[in-house]
Amino acid sequence: MAKRILLVIGGGIAAYKAAELIRLLRKDGIGVTCVLTEGGAQFVTPLTLAALSENRVYSHLFDLKDEVEMGHIQLSRQADLVVVCPATADLLARMAGGLANDLATTLLLATDKPVLAVPAMNVRMWLHAATRRNVAQLKSDGVTVMEPDEGEMACGEYGPGRLPEPEAIVARIKAMLAGDGAALDAQPDFASENHRPLYGKHVLITAGPTHEAIDPVRYIANRSSGKQGFAIAAAAAEAGARVTLVSGPVALPTPPGVIRVDVESAREMAAAVEAALPADAAIMVAAVADWRAADCAATKIKKDGSGQVPPLALAENPDILAGLAQSPQRPRLLVGFAAETNDVIDHAKAKLARKGCDWIVANDVAADPMGGELNRVHIVSATGVDSWERLPKDAVAKQLIAKVADVLR
Ligand code: CTP
Repeated sequence: MAKRILLVIGGGIAAYKAAELIRLLRKDGIGVTCVLTEGGAQFVTPLTLAALSENRVYSHLFDLKDEVEMGHIQLSRQADLVVVCPATADLLARMAGGLANDLATTLLLATDKPVLAVPAMNVRMWLHAATRRNVAQLKSDGVTVMEPDEGEMACGEYGPGRLPEPEAIVARIKAMLAGDGAALDAQPDFASENHRPLYGKHVLITAGPTHEAIDPVRYIANRSSGKQGFAIAAAAAEAGARVTLVSGPVALPTPPGVIRVDVESAREMAAAVEAALPADAAIMVAAVADWRAADCAATKIKKDGSGQVPPLALAENPDILAGLAQSPQRPRLLVGFAAETNDVIDHAKAKLARKGCDWIVANDVAADPMGGELNRVHIVSATGVDSWERLPKDAVAKQLIAKVADVLR
């Protein structure tokens, strides 16, 4: 049966992003029924939401016609999941207080389904003691509250409070619809002040693809987005580590508290990794190009009109992970990643031995292509294989960092 969500849209500037969220959910075959708060209606129109969700939009509690056609109790229970997005400071406060003074809060009180709140608000409002209290209350009431993104806000200030990207919200919704909500709720909460298991440790991470120049305008690359490596860097920094993130060319913001070194090619990445040593742990997530053009032309290679294609000779790049394993400065814990399309675990075991690292985090890119939001990983080590369920990349990151912290403790 197709899954359905009830989407409550609060009154903030991020409400316009609900439109994109609905479009992505519908594309994945997830049914959406929208409930528009009075504030939300200042930012998006019921007509937009109805057109995108292909469903009628509910706004008023005391609309008699609504009550005859669809009682609010029934509306609150016919979905598989209730999503509040954006969840404003006011809406979170009313939810935490158990108020039922409009249709949205009445539904949230009446529902017997899991609830996901996706906050978006000004940084000061998000960090205010009252909001902290309300979020803690909601979490202890069993509501899943997503962490907002950090960055520049509509109001011009900078910090946590931005609505997460719609793709990340969809990934979380899908995980909850698949029944993985409990696993997500069990994620370690590194953001709390007294939980900094990597304090005093240096964690070195590589991420993204490398670009290998053929001539000044062309290069060899791969599909790595850098998302998983950046999520691991963010989780390590949240866990209190000093983090050096050596990144190939990606379009991602630097996670808070992370020292980022941008590189292009595998050889530049190898040099940046060496320069960042010593480290307590190194996690090599980058999809390093195995080969580069043997000679990079100094000027653009031109067609000569003969129809002959130019020869492209390749040279092997240094293996950064294997080199680090042999280095006198080998970090205490050395972790490699492996994206595989087939025989995932067998290939990972072979890679573990070949590279001389402690763990290989293997993921099946046939099931979750590179660049996506979810990862199903197997942690392969000398002592066995630990297979995790399919999780959003930030959840994989937190779980991995908790495992790293266990070893370094
Ligand atoms: N890696 C590296 N330097 C390279 C190639 C890979 O540091 N030149 C690291 C990656 O960051 C990753 C791990 O090695 O942590 C495995 O990468 P992968 O590309 O899967 O390994 P390869 O040795 O290239 O194996 P394959 O034959 O599967 O391509």
